[in-house]
Amino acid sequence: SAAEKDGYASFMLKEIAEQPKAVADTLLGRIDPSGSLTLDELRITPADLRQIDKVVIVACGTAFHAGLIAKYAIEHWTRIPCEVELASEFRYRDPILGGRSLVIAISQSGETMDTLMALRHAREQGSKVLAICNTNGSTIPRESDAVLYTHAGPEVAVASTKAFLTQLVACYLVALYLCQVRGTKWGDEIQAVIKDLSKISDEVERVLETMEPVRALARTLAGKDTVLFLGRHVGYPVALEGALKLKELAYMHAEGFAAGELKHGPIALVEEDMPVVVVVPSPRNRSLLHDKIVSNIQEIRARGARTIVIAEEGDEAVVPYADHLIRIPATPTLLQPVVATVPLQVFACELAAARGNEVDQPRNLAKSVTVE
Ligand code: G6P
Repeated sequence: SAAEKDGYASFMLKEIAEQPKAVADTLLGRIDPSGSLTLDELRITPADLRQIDKVVIVACGTAFHAGLIAKYAIEHWTRIPCEVELASEFRYRDPILGGRSLVIAISQSGETMDTLMALRHAREQGSKVLAICNTNGSTIPRESDAVLYTHAGPEVAVASTKAFLTQLVACYLVALYLCQVRGTKWGDEIQAVIKDLSKISDEVERVLETMEPVRALARTLAGKDTVLFLGRHVGYPVALEGALKLKELAYMHAEGFAAGELKHGPIALVEEDMPVVVVVPSPRNRSLLHDKIVSNIQEIRARGARTIVIAEEGDEAVVPYADHLIRIPATPTLLQPVVATVPLQVFACELAAARGNEVDQPRNLAKSVTVE
């Protein structure tokens, strides 16, 4: 009913707006003022976590994209090898698992059959399974060794938004906790990340306050057939998520690519006035990566693309090549997806509405898929 939507036109818009709170609630009580993490609820002992020699993430859909981002953080911070796999592919290839593998199953609903079957397979191989889940007492956490709940609150719209942001936060917490219990060198970078993670919900709020031009832009693109999304590093899974949202909601041909892969094929798709969304990494830390994406933007623009550039505040290098510029707050590189995804959600939601689609209940999709 309209009342449940709190005056928003759709549950999706309401849930997008709830993201700062969802993120803050997921962090609540898990980082103490000294910057140390308390995940007592985790129920896998520090001794077991010290034994882990591999992390394997399984998930579907949007949760899979959270897993792809988590891999960058887990490997960079903990130095433990991490694989990410679509749950529906996992058990069929006879994956190498054992007692020292930590399998992380990410699921909003906790009922996705593909993910459940993947975790059952992992437990049969003797691996410990940690669920990252938004639904208390659902099947996936019940069948796992441990659970870290995301506190997004109920998500009603089929397309996942606030659950995704909280999945990212939960993955960062797990990665940082692994560093803590394993005594990984707690460098300045990790300290800074913890500090910035505790402020990230305010940054999401700031992004939400600047979304009007994104909505206006989306409305002008309602007649397009194709939108491409490009990113590098953690911006690559963000691009995949932006494309998935547009498929789910606007029923448009949308594809996400790693920007470095453009020259190996996808650039052939670029046509005059085709919208291409580019997620630009921070210019500060990995400046080589930044320079490379700036030249990617130049290349596609030279071939006629209409560039829609998502870049950090103060990043001036992208300005000459951006037909449309969407600013996001500066964050540490690995945390950028938390803020960079928000404009893509708003973009897809508005474009779908402009095309007359039902955003909360897209055709052919279900919120929770309980068959394989
Ligand atoms: C369905 C939904 C997607 C979701 C996926 C995984 O396909 O339509 O939005 O990302 O399932 O769901 P889960 O509940 O496991 O996160």
